[in-house]
Amino acid sequence: MHKIAIFASGRGSNAEKIIKYFQQHPTIKVQLIVSNKADAPVLQLAEKFGISSLVIHKARFLQTNDLLDELESFKINFIVLAGFLWLIPSYLVHAFSGRIVNIHPSLLPKYGGKGMYGMKVHEAVFESKDQETGITIHHVNEHYDEGSIIFQAKCAVTPLDTPVTIAQKVQLLEHQYFPVIIENMLLTT
Ligand code: GRF
Repeated sequence: MHKIAIFASGRGSNAEKIIKYFQQHPTIKVQLIVSNKADAPVLQLAEKFGISSLVIHKARFLQTNDLLDELESFKINFIVLAGFLWLIPSYLVHAFSGRIVNIHPSLLPKYGGKGMYGMKVHEAVFESKDQETGITIHHVNEHYDEGSIIFQAKCAVTPLDTPVTIAQKVQLLEHQYFPVIIENMLLTT
């Protein structure tokens, strides 16, 4: 059985899609939700679906590797970042080498890096007058949004779009593809 931990800081709409997608899966299970925010809505989602959750504190996350023991106790073998805003420290990158994925709401390497998240990304796409945007699912290393790219999907940006409609289009792509790509990765490794 593959046991996934989803790390998320916010609303958790991707987390919800992933949880639902794997609910009846024979070999893949969402085992744990990890958040850096005690009041993140994603934690209520964990409760709703009966999934264990963990709130991590910054100093402990960055300066100790205690989290590895916690992940081990849940038998986690794959980490999904779904709107998790902290940089992943190197002890975690190394312990889960090739087994941490992130989703970013743009076509990396465009509009990535520290501080580029949420509406900031879509506003930058809007300002630039790009005619397309999309999603990137990528491996995670110690730098924001720089791990090798696993998958991208695109959508058109038209003159009628606003940052809000761009965000909606991109989110549809995220929900459509993220669970499937995770499944493909786990079933082919
Ligand atoms: C998504 O847009 C994802 O690309 C980014 O953070 C957002 C999370 O949204 N990394 P949600 O919390 O899953 O709704």
